[in-house]
Amino acid sequence: MIYFDNAATSWPKPVEVWKAMEHCIRNTGANPGRAGHRMALEAGRLVDEARELLASLFNISNPDQIVFTLNATEALNLAIKGLLKPGDHVITSSVEHNSVTRPLYVLQNNGVEVTKVSCAKDATIKTRDIEKAIKANTVAIVITHASNVTGTLMPIGEIGRLAKKKGLRFIVDAAQTAGVFELDVSFMGIHLLAFPGHKGLYGPTGVGGLYLAGNVELTPLKEGGTGSSSKTPWQPEILPERYESGTVNSVGIAGLAAGLKFIRREGMERIRKHEMELTRRFLEGAERIKGLTIYGPAEIYERAPVISFSLEGKNSALVGGVLDKQYNIACRAGLHCAPDAHRTLGTLEQKLVRFSFSYFNNEEEIDHSLHALAEIAAIPPGKFNKDDEDDGSCSC
Ligand code: ALA
Repeated sequence: MIYFDNAATSWPKPVEVWKAMEHCIRNTGANPGRAGHRMALEAGRLVDEARELLASLFNISNPDQIVFTLNATEALNLAIKGLLKPGDHVITSSVEHNSVTRPLYVLQNNGVEVTKVSCAKDATIKTRDIEKAIKANTVAIVITHASNVTGTLMPIGEIGRLAKKKGLRFIVDAAQTAGVFELDVSFMGIHLLAFPGHKGLYGPTGVGGLYLAGNVELTPLKEGGTGSSSKTPWQPEILPERYESGTVNSVGIAGLAAGLKFIRREGMERIRKHEMELTRRFLEGAERIKGLTIYGPAEIYERAPVISFSLEGKNSALVGGVLDKQYNIACRAGLHCAPDAHRTLGTLEQKLVRFSFSYFNNEEEIDHSLHALAEIAAIPPGKFNKDDEDDGSCSC
């Protein structure tokens, strides 16, 4: 299988990731931070190690300011719902994933004002348009680092400086960039950074996290056992326990730590260079395919390795199904849980086919996919085999 669905979750994972998970479950499967016996201490050490590796990756001085969550969506829910109160105003973009738009929609129905700054047709945003949207009651800006549909990179350094100048909280969704692009929370002025463990960080599904700057106070989404301050009925004030109730996914976190070590060993720059080289090769080849339209910025430096496209006169779900069944290519066709992005692109009805690359893809796979798309594009209208339409390939 040629796997081009790395924006959903990366696959394959480095061998050391599943070996670390196996080692953890076989040898150190106790509950971290919940007892003083050696196994529990060792489990706690593994969790601490993952926090330290993340802190070093994102230039976070205190690893305890990283809270483990189930995924980036849970981290964004904690950041957004924990921060904003009725009467507050928040600014976001018109290309966000539902992990941002749905929590904001709930809050909007409870008295929070939301402004969605319109992006251009290629999903780019102008920082000055964000600045124009700032009002007296604006509390925060929440934005993705890269669109999960077009891969468009947002100018988060610039937006961070704006947030700092205006005294606003800056929330960044790094679902498509953590592990691939530089993320320096202090240089970029990020107060809350939500990241998945299972995409560019090469950990397993079921683990993600949220970084909170030292001066940020959130209302916890959950209360419960933290392994500390057990006598008090209140949730402890200290981090990470304040936002980390219940047993963490220590097996997943052990895998994440191995993924982080893999990135450190290979080098993030090398990983990014490889993925962007594949992106460039695909974009250049796609230009030669009649009827294929690429969405997103023309300039490669404005992109992450996530590409969405349509084939003229072809149903995107159908194309996804044919790629899977006839060419052994796994991709994601549909709305990608980001209807706002598709509204911005004008593809809400038509939907798109998305390819997303990882360090484990290679040039032969790109060339095979271009050949496949050229053949599919040449199929006359109405000549698709209906059996190829795979609803599973179209996630709406
Ligand atoms: N957010 C993930 C995607 O874009 C699941 O596919």
